Amino acid sequence: MRKFFPVEELARDERFNKITMKDRQNDPRSVFAADGEGDSKRANFRLTPARRDASDGARGLMHGIFVGEIQALEGAGRTCWDFETETEAPFALKLDMARQCWDEARHVEISVKLSDWMGTEIGQYAENTVLFEAACSTDPVMRLAGVNRALEGLAIDVFTTMKEFGDLAGDPYLEFCEDWMLADEVTHVKMGSDWLRKMTEKDPERRNKALEFQSVVDKLFSYGGTRSDSSESPIGLARRFRELAGFTDEEVESIADVSLQALNERKLAVAKMLGAADSLTAAAAGE
Ligand SMILES: [Fe+2]
Ligand SMILES: [Fe+2]
Repeated sequence: MRKFFPVEELARDERFNKITMKDRQNDPRSVFAADGEGDSKRANFRLTPARRDASDGARGLMHGIFVGEIQALEGAGRTCWDFETETEAPFALKLDMARQCWDEARHVEISVKLSDWMGTEIGQYAENTVLFEAACSTDPVMRLAGVNRALEGLAIDVFTTMKEFGDLAGDPYLEFCEDWMLADEVTHVKMGSDWLRKMTEKDPERRNKALEFQSVVDKLFSYGGTRSDSSESPIGLARRFRELAGFTDEEVESIADVSLQALNERKLAVAKMLGAADSLTAAAAGE
């Protein structure tokens, strides 16, 4: 079996549609888009059942979780295979990754059933493969930082928000499924935190490089302020669960800062776009 499998060759049937992250953000059905009320000054943007686009937003997010679970399974599986046990990735790390595969496979099944329950078909929303791409690094420590800490850390935030959504919507299936998956994700992030520290104990340069990669992925996935402490973000930052997953207070603060910065950048970009649209409308009216 080949090592370091390229993202282009992931096994997907004809139902799946691959798009870039930028396309996904621009999908008007996504929770990242405005909710159609045309009021860019809304203070509360959190994904709740009260949002007008709650149905599409929650279903799109659930489908995103589903494809993320597939890629997390593929990534953890690759880490068991791509590296030499004696020199690159200790056997105990591979055992943890194997356990993660087991969890992710269960999450894929849960996500398919939840999507069906919410009225969504596989492929109704597109897939971007950034998660697997972060799992293509040739250094296992980079994979732990980018996938287990940054992306699965985001999964903690997403599951917490979806769990609250299920609670508010009076949907116990959604609420409890998210809660169970959340418990697994906290474990996956903790594994990432523990292994990252252990494997870079005597190599501060490697640790710094990995943490830098994690922060790049964190910033990328804070896209447009999707996830932050602010209620202007659709997804909240799950501080308590992150603590349980082995993040230090400083690390949680720095993710909060990066997320807020991304939110402010997006607000500025939206304001500019609206300004440009207003000028065009004014110009058209003046003609
Ligand atoms: Fe998962
Ligand atoms: Fe996971």
